Amino acid sequence: MTAAPDVPAARPAPRTPPRRFAVLGTGHWARTCHGAALAAHPDVELVGFWGRDAGRAREAAASLGGAGGAVRGTDDLDALLADVDAVTLALPPHVQAAVAVRAARAGRHLLLDKPLALDVAAADEVVAAARAAGVASVSYMTYLFQPEVTDWLARLAALAAEHGPWEGALARWAGTIDVPGNPYAASAWRRERGGLWDTGPHALSVLLPLLGPVARVGGGRGVRDAVVVACEHASGAASALSLTLTAPAGAGGSSATVWGPGGRHDLPRFTGTPQEGFARAVDALRASAAEERAHPLDVTWARDVVAVLAAAEEHLARPAAGRTTAVAGSAGR
Ligand SMILES: NC(=O)c1ccc[n+]([C@@H]2O[C@H](COP(=O)([O-])OP(=O)(O)OC[C@H]3O[C@@H](n4cnc5c(N)ncnc54)[C@H](OP(=O)(O)O)[C@@H]3O)[C@@H](O)[C@H]2O)c1
Repeated sequence: MTAAPDVPAARPAPRTPPRRFAVLGTGHWARTCHGAALAAHPDVELVGFWGRDAGRAREAAASLGGAGGAVRGTDDLDALLADVDAVTLALPPHVQAAVAVRAARAGRHLLLDKPLALDVAAADEVVAAARAAGVASVSYMTYLFQPEVTDWLARLAALAAEHGPWEGALARWAGTIDVPGNPYAASAWRRERGGLWDTGPHALSVLLPLLGPVARVGGGRGVRDAVVVACEHASGAASALSLTLTAPAGAGGSSATVWGPGGRHDLPRFTGTPQEGFARAVDALRASAAEERAHPLDVTWARDVVAVLAAAEEHLARPAAGRTTAVAGSAGR
């Protein structure tokens, strides 16, 4: 009788991290951030751009060295999905949600941009499709892929652990799309939905790690698209967000301050580029896919941000009488 050979204990085979990427979208951000970062990334291959207009998709590809055929541009989404492992999406949010569902159902990992969608039902569909397909997802939140910001958040988490939870925050995020030369001036969804949906995700990306989930919102309107959103967090903390896309020239910028028993702290400026941050997000997606471990900024996180913004929009849509309490008129002088 011959002895059975030793059989090594079965170990799950590590999954190969996604290598072949496509950019879905052909606009400024798709080319200058997603495409540029992927083209420069040593571990991935930029296969092509998809857009609803094949000519613009080819232009985007050519802008990144695709003229010789290495990067292609197409309006055939299914064909491009069949040729890649992962996609990055740089599309208006309502378009992103539907396209992300298609990509997930095709088994492609998702590097999403913000916001995930413009309503909770659409965001839920992306979550369901990603879960059903078992694909990895990461939401590219610009600030959370910059070391100055993530180091600051880690330091503040340690301070909260030592002294007690943060109690409140103020955040202002103001874009200037009416200033000549702004690349987003013609963006239709920004014009329709304003700073709440465009800059709101950035403000929440910094406040949620500090104060935790938002349970209730209130708010008011200012000039043009400007809104203020008051957030009651489940932790008992409260925060106030001032959001706009149409700040006058010289009045744009972002800032956040948080306070509690650990003191008062201002969000630091970051010095890296969005492309460097995007490359880190690519690495995060690849690791999440290979390790089959959900990333903290996955599609579920992005869905919860949409839920806060949708609640704020619903609140702001109420007639002013139902949204605000009138201040008693002055007795005069
Ligand atoms: N993380 C950040 O800091 C940051 C910065 C900038 C942008 N972003 C995000 O990137 C995404 C794209 O932004 P963007 O400024 O490029 O948006 P955009 O200018 O409004 O849209 C650009 C792209 O969307 C395509 N598009 C528009 N409507 C479409 C439709 N109905 N069907 C298919 N494609 C459609 C455009 O195609 P056509 O050329 O055919 O019109 C173009 O490719 C957004 O989610 C935005 O929030 C993030």
